Order: sequence, then structure tokens, then C-alpha cells
Amino acid sequence: MEKSESLKLLENEMISDESLPLRESNLVFGEGNPEAEVVFIGEAPGFHEDRLKRPFVGRGGQLLEKLINEIGWRRDQVYITNIVKRRPPENRDPLPEEIEAYRPYLTRQIEIINPKIIVALGRFAMNYFLPEAKITRDQGKVFDVGGRLVVPMFHPAAALRGNNAMAQFTETMKKLPSLLIPT
Ligand code: URA
Repeated sequence: MEKSESLKLLENEMISDESLPLRESNLVFGEGNPEAEVVFIGEAPGFHEDRLKRPFVGRGGQLLEKLINEIGWRRDQVYITNIVKRRPPENRDPLPEEIEAYRPYLTRQIEIINPKIIVALGRFAMNYFLPEAKITRDQGKVFDVGGRLVVPMFHPAAALRGNNAMAQFTETMKKLPSLLIPT
């Protein structure tokens, strides 16, 4: 089966899974190239994402896309999604049980795409893969998680808030292309 077809089936399964939390918000499954070598994973959809049913379409998303372009890639070449796929009320932090409820689906989504690199955007996505990691200490480092590279980065919203975070966000982004070169 084509990866795009497997992803569509997974999305349909999520739509009909009534056990998933936050069902008052729209499902923002994720988008991009099903054959992508790089998957960017954020925390949860916000207001704009919920409205458009697309991940990272607000200010943070614009920054992410700009940096993706600056390293010579296009947004539609990579894949972008979130650990929690519906918007928490008032954009509050996702709860541990919400993250766990969506985990089996994200696991399958990653297995289908089978990327070389997962870029974890922000603390929640980072701790999903690396429970002990600290964002200020570990952003920009490259970890091997079950044979896949995981690179934590600041969340784009954090980069927009602070100069230092912006500089580190940019620097880590520039590292990504070299990680795809076979050694
Ligand atoms: N923040 C996230 O973590 N994900 C989105 O899709 C948008 C904002």
C-alpha cells in the first residue's frame, strides 16, 4: 500500500475514534510528503491550526517555513505534525493523559513515513521522545532513539519571544541538512 493511502486510513481511524480526548476541536492530522526524510513534530494545534485543520499555520508556522526555506528545503518536502492532534482549550499545555491517548497514532504515523530525522519542536515534543531531556541544555543535540535521529529544537513560538532562542533555533535548523548526508 502507498504511504499516502496508509496515512489516509490512519486519519480516518482517528476521526472515528471516540475515545480520543479534545473531540470538541478539529483533528489536525499533519501534512507534507509521506516519503519525507524529515518530520517536524510540535506540541498541539492552536487557534489557526484548528480553524484550517493544518499544522503550524500561525506566526510560529510562518517562522518554521521561512527557516525550512532558508536551509534549501520546501515545506511540502518534509512532513509536519504534532504529538496531540486536537487543540486544547485556550491553548493550554497538553495534559499527560492527552499525550498518551494520541501516542499510538503518532507512533503509527512515524512508522508509516519512516523518516531518518525527527525534529522535536519544544519541550513537550522533546520529552515525548526523550523524557529526561531539558530544552535549554539539549536543543540542537542529536540523539539516537530506536535507530532514528531525534533533534530537539526550541518551539518556534519560543524563538519568536526571545533573541537567544531565535539564534539557537536558527543555528540548529542549519545543522539539519548535514544530518541527511550518509556517513
Ligand atoms: N504550535 C504547535 O505546537 N503546533 C502547531 O501546529 C501550531 C502551533
